[in-house]
Amino acid sequence: MVRRLLIFGPPGAGKGTHAKRLAHDLGVPHIATGEMLRGAIASKTPLGAKAEAYIRRGELVPDELVVSLLRARIADESGWLLDGFPRTVPQAKALATMLDESDVKLDGMLSMDAPEELLLNRIAGRRTCDGCQAVWNEFYRPPAKTGVCDDCGGNLSHRPDDEEHAVRRRLAEYRTKTSPVLAFFAEKRVPIWTVISTNDVDDVYDHIKKSVGIS
Ligand code: AP5
Repeated sequence: MVRRLLIFGPPGAGKGTHAKRLAHDLGVPHIATGEMLRGAIASKTPLGAKAEAYIRRGELVPDELVVSLLRARIADESGWLLDGFPRTVPQAKALATMLDESDVKLDGMLSMDAPEELLLNRIAGRRTCDGCQAVWNEFYRPPAKTGVCDDCGGNLSHRPDDEEHAVRRRLAEYRTKTSPVLAFFAEKRVPIWTVISTNDVDDVYDHIKKSVGIS
């Protein structure tokens, strides 16, 4: 069974939505650098203070901050599903070095994508629970009661970096700095499974399960 996996793709491709389910089914932790950084901002840690302005503008947080955060988080884990890391070639090189040092391999990379207009529309409708971090969507997956999480009753809010100007910046960062990470792992012969996420969530998840061999 797959134990060390990356989920990759532009903002709004559905990484978080599917990664939570997949990590549960694989029995590994879902480690999402975006969630960790938002948690650091909410807890007002020194890292959160450094990261906040970058995230609000839709820019990537500097590599050295994210690499040390991730290194500490995976140090004692024997398996994981990484969501949102690596996001630059220097981050990919740092992960490859961490794996070599532990004498373990990456089992594969799920590469998700969808047309840009759909990505923008999904992000415009996204609402995230302030309590349990569950993700809903006003257009595609509305909660039973507007503004309230079905899972825990928490308040649903719009992420500050989901304003349109920040989203366009995030998409540009993805195209210029993040997409080369695919070629980096392709050269290393890591299996890459491409998933176009235009269908509904359950269809997309079926495709993902078949790709990683757990259907
Ligand atoms: P991060 O939190 O990682 O955000 P992102 O990569 O921009 O991804 P999103 O969370 O926007 O999208 P997603 O693909 O997870 O989509 P979701 O499943 O929610 O990063 C945020 C910021 O943190 C970055 O901009 C950067 O500043 C910083 N950062 C994080 N990691 C970093 C790193 N390694 N280096 C440097 N900086 C870093 O789905 C979106 C919506 O669509 C939801 O409402 C969902 O319900 C809906 N949806 C999903 N799939 C479907 C479907 N098939 N049908 C209908 N609706 C769907």
